[in-house]
Amino acid sequence: MKSYEKLLENNKNWARQSIEKDPEFFNRLKNTQTPEYLWIGCSDSRVPPDSITGTTPGEIFIHRNIANMVVHTDFNMLSVLQYAVEVLKVKHVIVCGHYNCGGVKAAMTHQSLGIINKWLRNIKDVYRIHFDEINSLPTDSEQVNRLIELNIQEQVMNLAKTSIIQKAWKENNAPHLHGWVYGLEDGLIKPIFEMEAGTHIDPIYEFDNL
Ligand code: CO
Repeated sequence: MKSYEKLLENNKNWARQSIEKDPEFFNRLKNTQTPEYLWIGCSDSRVPPDSITGTTPGEIFIHRNIANMVVHTDFNMLSVLQYAVEVLKVKHVIVCGHYNCGGVKAAMTHQSLGIINKWLRNIKDVYRIHFDEINSLPTDSEQVNRLIELNIQEQVMNLAKTSIIQKAWKENNAPHLHGWVYGLEDGLIKPIFEMEAGTHIDPIYEFDNL
């Protein structure tokens, strides 16, 4: 059997088992979704949102990219965010990174890696802003992991800078924003930063006519 055929085989088994456990499983989900969470995570194959949070289809709306970035010119991320917040009305937006992230490590080097340079530039900016704190740590892995935490914090703050979140905070007093880091070595998620609806942000980013 070719490797990809295994996936299709697994899928048939999964569909059958899902029906066996819950005959209404697909009927319930086929026409509607009402997820409570939007997840913005790293594309890394070792950090699958559903598995690590014990959630099932229909529970989490998901956007993933390299190093779980919230880039204000990224129409893909912004479209997902707008739909999740304004149509699905998610209660929580979670930015989840992970320790030892290859994207963050690459951003700390001086290597040109092609088109991804433009994406990693956004992480280099976070590195520059927090350089003194990161550089004061003794080992490379501590430095990488601290940048990963600070990057999560910056990406959560980037969410709060969007008109989408500010409008939702004003109109619905939601969603609650969360910054989490997943540990590849122990499978545990560590919450490191959060912003409740209405949290004060740097005034230059506040829109007063929403
Ligand atoms: Co990663």
